Amino acid sequence: MEEKLKQVKEATEKNGQEHLLNIYNKLPDEEKRQELLDDILTVDFKQVNKLYDISKQPPAFKNSVIEPISYVDKSKLSKTEYEDYENIGIKEIKDGKLAVVTMAGGQGTRLGHSGPKGTFDLGLDTHKSIFEILTDTLIEARKEYGVDIPWYIMTSEENNDETQKFFKDHNFFGYPKDCITFFKQGKLPMLSTDGKLLVNEDGRLKEAADGHGGIFKSLLNDGMIYDMKARNIEWAFIGGVDNVLVKPVDPILLGLSIKKNVLAAVKSIVKAHPHEKVGVFCKRDGKPSVIEYSEISKDMAEELDENGELKYGESNTLCNLFSLKAIEKVSEVNLPYHIAFKKASYIDKNGEIVKPSEPNAYKFEAFLFDAFEILDDIAVLRVKREEEFAPVKNAEGADSPETARKLYLDFHNS
Ligand code: UTP
Repeated sequence: MEEKLKQVKEATEKNGQEHLLNIYNKLPDEEKRQELLDDILTVDFKQVNKLYDISKQPPAFKNSVIEPISYVDKSKLSKTEYEDYENIGIKEIKDGKLAVVTMAGGQGTRLGHSGPKGTFDLGLDTHKSIFEILTDTLIEARKEYGVDIPWYIMTSEENNDETQKFFKDHNFFGYPKDCITFFKQGKLPMLSTDGKLLVNEDGRLKEAADGHGGIFKSLLNDGMIYDMKARNIEWAFIGGVDNVLVKPVDPILLGLSIKKNVLAAVKSIVKAHPHEKVGVFCKRDGKPSVIEYSEISKDMAEELDENGELKYGESNTLCNLFSLKAIEKVSEVNLPYHIAFKKASYIDKNGEIVKPSEPNAYKFEAFLFDAFEILDDIAVLRVKREEEFAPVKNAEGADSPETARKLYLDFHNS
């Protein structure tokens, strides 16, 4: 028996994944069969078993002490404070210490756009895509501060080629090409409900991006931390791809972090209403954290502080500033994986393609906000929704292209 096949047979039998060889035998051509063998040989079966164990445990809400987190309201800063933060931040930016990282590896399933989310046309008269809107912010900052700001774009295995082609086809939207670096995020196998690895329609192992929390390891493994160091970068704004009012180059956020001597900072907006389905910043056992809407009790969600404001009202906007030191620190830790149950088409053991109409497979994702617990403290800067937060998440209704377009136009026309 050919050596490779022998190794695969041993590994799959030892780990209860023998069905993979049945599928291998059904694949139509030799090239596909070899690709599948190669995929199987790269599998970390120990990790697969651990992931499957996670899927069997009910979500555990640890009995932790949750407390509100303190924040700074950008609109309530005194003139002196504002100028102080601004001057410190501007100096850092002008000294070339800030990079921007955009997380564009998500699948954008809710939006339902066929390409990478950044290629979505927001429906403005200019027909700008989300990527072009993000580039505009960097072009503006470049003009304002007279410095090239390195931009790192995290893609995924699925959307990397299309994303890079989109930028090339549009001549990088006028931003210097050598300031833009693409890197791919990590991936993890998807598993059936009985812990079996799946094979996709192309005969390859079914894998999915490892969540936005995978960014820290990807920055390390893909050489981006090294690249940032070589460019003397000390801070990186890390944000999602889908906020068309994002302000990635923000001297106030930078100045606040430096002045408060923290390794990371985030921007929050006030929760629209107590039961809005968003995660809010809090302290968990004394460490900065996010409490998800599925975790928060009704009482806690409605609790008011002495000013009559929600005690847990600082919603997560996925606008984060991390010092390079913090990125390095987090990249050395394994963030926990959270589970999502998704529809995943696959080839069954008879070689037939199955397209399920209901979720059938586990996807594993790390969340960026789990990184905060590793840091002792973070600064939270409350900003205004109408100035800084217009997410494109759903095809219709809340957080849709329609709501984001309106917020974008209102802001830019004001
Ligand atoms: P979301 O959690 O909103 O996911 O990601 P999504 O993929 O955009 O959309 P749905 O849930 O499938 O509809 C928030 C941000 O994190 C990025 C996304 O691209 C988005 O900018 N992200 C998410 C990644 O870069 N990688 C991931 O694995 C997940």
